[in-house]
Amino acid sequence: MTEPKNASAEAVADPNKPLKDLTDMQTMVSLCKRRGFIFQSSEIYGGINSCWDYGPLGIELKYAVKDAWWKNMTRQHDDVEGVDASILMHPRVWEASGHVENFTDPLVDCKKCKARHRADHLKPVKALEEKLGHLPSIEEMTKALEGANCPSCGSAGTLTPPRLFNMMFKTYMGPVADDANIVYLRPETAQGIFVNFRQVQETMRRKLPFGIAQIGKAFRNEITPGNFTFRTREFEQMEMQYFVTPGSDAAAFEKWKTERRAWHSSMGIRNSKLKFHEHGPNELAHYAKQACDIYYEFPIGWQEVEGIHNRSDYDLRRHTEFSGKSLQYTDEAANKFTPYVIETSVGCDRFVLAVLCDAYRANEDRVVMKFHPSLAPYKAAVFPLMKKDELVGPALKIYEDLRKTYKVDYDAAGSIGKRYRRHEEVGTPFCITIDYDGVADQTVTMRHRDTMAQERIPMARVQQYMEDAFKNWKME
Ligand code: GAP
Repeated sequence: MTEPKNASAEAVADPNKPLKDLTDMQTMVSLCKRRGFIFQSSEIYGGINSCWDYGPLGIELKYAVKDAWWKNMTRQHDDVEGVDASILMHPRVWEASGHVENFTDPLVDCKKCKARHRADHLKPVKALEEKLGHLPSIEEMTKALEGANCPSCGSAGTLTPPRLFNMMFKTYMGPVADDANIVYLRPETAQGIFVNFRQVQETMRRKLPFGIAQIGKAFRNEITPGNFTFRTREFEQMEMQYFVTPGSDAAAFEKWKTERRAWHSSMGIRNSKLKFHEHGPNELAHYAKQACDIYYEFPIGWQEVEGIHNRSDYDLRRHTEFSGKSLQYTDEAANKFTPYVIETSVGCDRFVLAVLCDAYRANEDRVVMKFHPSLAPYKAAVFPLMKKDELVGPALKIYEDLRKTYKVDYDAAGSIGKRYRRHEEVGTPFCITIDYDGVADQTVTMRHRDTMAQERIPMARVQQYMEDAFKNWKME
């Protein structure tokens, strides 16, 4: 008998009843709000478009993702160092990087309904792109959109000609708001790494190849943000620049492609939901020589989660030119050259969204978030079967012990079935229940989130049991 004594019938949902994947984003938005993962920003004021706040469980998940990425980069790779550069940088950085000139999207407005669209996302432009085999020029887009319908209101011929819109957020440094004081919120964290290349290399006495990793906020004034946290104007990136000798860049690119995809799988993302997307010559960003994205199949379709780029010597060369300070490297044979860079860049928020979407399984009876245990916000929940002193005391003791190692919840409210449901929905791998039999013989029941199986084990073994289970965890 492994069931906690007196467990009510509702505790027993059918483990053999199939569970389905997530099919629409709105379901995820609602779950995240209901269960404290992600809230709309400034909600009491009606919210602000495309801005989201992580709630108590969301931030646990996000920190777990960042921690996993950071440890992978800077511990499992002994040739990667970390930095944390400031968001505001010298404005010349963005001239050197090419963002002032090139970080633009073509924008059109509907004169009738005032809706704003990205011209390159509109059907006539997409059709032309398909025909030409490359992104049409602004002139070609203008022609293609003559007489086109606005996708929002359907009116014909109301779209303005496309104009290029720079996506960097501008602000002013200091009290005077004039052009001399313009600074930008960084649109990618990478530049904070490039400008520190020399200092990191020298202080850490690094030889090529080596990498520099960083996690931090980036800002883009996106024309069409949306799909929950998929595309926002403020987001976090986890980027790593790997500096190599020219000529070894192609091999390093392949190595990082393989490593990064393996990392996504190690975070529990199903392989069937991941694929590579190689960029064609017309998709490449202004800095890239070669690029490959890792795509995840969201309910909105296959979309980029991570970009892996061969940035050549573009950035270090440009910063050398613009700053007048050499960012060249001298190798052991006294050859001087500008290193090439292989970049891996994953959106932290977008990856968290992929984790949430991938974990979701549901049927009419229950919703289960099948997080990899290393990412689950709570590692376990401890329940006294009933709110009786004889059960509460030992339950609290187990909770206090586990809390030293793991984030654990203690829950004594409501029926045991409701407590199981609540913790399935936030992805807690184990529910630990203490009943009268258990107090008598010093045992607990461990309930497994994924199989709903229950096992009675000695109280003293709970922690070791969890540790072993997490080490050997098999995702479906
Ligand atoms: N430093 C290279 C770089 O920034 P990117 O492909 O523009 O490359 C890298 O961005 C990753 O950042 C994307 O794969 C995506 O996960 C994330 N990202 C980019 N724009 C985003 C946005 N508006 N909202 C959320 N995540 C975004």
